[in-house]
Amino acid sequence: MALWEMIKFFRDPLVSLQHQVANHGTLSRMDFTLSRGSSQGVVLAVGPEYNQQILSDTKVFHAVTTSPPPDTAAQRLTQGVVYLNGEHHRQQRRLIMPAFHKKEVDGYAQDMIAVTQQLIDRWHPGQRVNMIDEMTALTMGIVIKTLFGLELDKNGYALGSLLEEWLALSSSILANVVPQNLPYSPARRLVAVAGRIEAIVRELLAQKRAHLDESRDVMSMLMKTHDEDGTQMTDAELIGNATLLYLAGHETSANALSWALFLLAQHPKIMADLVDEVEGELHGSPPTVEQISRLKLLEGVVNEALRLFPPVSFITKTVSQPVRVGSFELAAGESVMISHFLTHRLPHLYPQPNRFMPERWFSIDPSPYEYIPFSAGPRRCIGATFAMLEMKIVLAMLLQRYRFSVIRNAQVQASFLFLLRARQMPIEIQAVGQQPKRESIRGNIVNLIELT
Ligand code: HEM
Repeated sequence: MALWEMIKFFRDPLVSLQHQVANHGTLSRMDFTLSRGSSQGVVLAVGPEYNQQILSDTKVFHAVTTSPPPDTAAQRLTQGVVYLNGEHHRQQRRLIMPAFHKKEVDGYAQDMIAVTQQLIDRWHPGQRVNMIDEMTALTMGIVIKTLFGLELDKNGYALGSLLEEWLALSSSILANVVPQNLPYSPARRLVAVAGRIEAIVRELLAQKRAHLDESRDVMSMLMKTHDEDGTQMTDAELIGNATLLYLAGHETSANALSWALFLLAQHPKIMADLVDEVEGELHGSPPTVEQISRLKLLEGVVNEALRLFPPVSFITKTVSQPVRVGSFELAAGESVMISHFLTHRLPHLYPQPNRFMPERWFSIDPSPYEYIPFSAGPRRCIGATFAMLEMKIVLAMLLQRYRFSVIRNAQVQASFLFLLRARQMPIEIQAVGQQPKRESIRGNIVNLIELT
């Protein structure tokens, strides 16, 4: 792949990956030519068998690590569990997991309900919104409350926009190729942004330390918890994990929720059925965890939205020792990519794969490697139970008060910035009595979903 092809790939990875599979099958090599004579290849392996091999063997298939300048805030921000391998990864996971057990997560439901109620009270029928922004603000509020026990005040917003900038800079090709010592270089900006993020997170942690005994939020638990031998998280680990959990905990859910609302708006019959289910169980009251668990269509809607638009759509792993993947012999240091998005569109696993059919979940039970929105194996998403509960509570509550239609002729362009998202998702909030209609839409979205 020449440089321009590489740029094309990163501009629209989903279409590029679909082309790669259409032209070369579910196992192929993609070569990125970096400069004359040097090229970097990645093996794309699609399907449950490869997912199982690659996701279950964390000894061979390592998380890709980053290499920001040592002893800088930029480096400390990447000390979160997702960037670690081997024993350090296992140890950090052991410390984090208890805060996300079902019992603890159920305890966060009241915060999820309270923050969602604030959004509902702010909206009014006839209002036109970019649903991505609305859902990002909502999930940011939920994560700030449940992770840090704080309200979404000016610190929360400042942190959110800095993290957005940090993400954009980290994934920018320019930040990796323009030398850091040049004035205004993106890499220099990255270090500066990381410094400001770290300062805010440190302040949040200091506020927590002052009231550690009474607090039941995730970060307080991480600050109190220790391994069997008494080891606690260091400050750098707390900062890395706070940043990671904040990012992983709201961007993903915000995108998943916006896709779910978009899909419901474009399938008014399913939205009406879901409203009936929600009303039949909740009778206008805020949900309880128990009631939420009984809403089967809601579960199907969330599963199906995550199948069609998995926020994490592909990941790359680095091989730590020689290994065979299908017919490819990979040497240590080489890379392999799996795709959640492509796995979920395999027609032998999901007939009519491009259609939104929540009812398919009443009769299918895919294996952990056939359905991987939260990945699988020893690195499966720590926040999966949290995210599922959050999405269900939010969708149920929004549908109790409003209906939704996509704005006619809206441009909905699925794009990629670490996560599968649409930059714009123009949606009109409507009153309960209104009958939502499917609207004509433009953008690459028309190739990604089949509306019948
Ligand atoms: C719809 C929402 C979410 C989706 C689709 C999602 C998806 C994923 C996926 C695919 C991975 C594996 C990434 C990899 O292997 O590189 C992952 C890891 C992770 N997620 Fe989530 N996630 C979601 C929400 C959350 C939430 C709410 C939290 C916490 C508040 C969270 C915390 C984490 C953490 C800590 C990891 C790293 C696990 C490890 O490396 O051992 N995620 N997530």
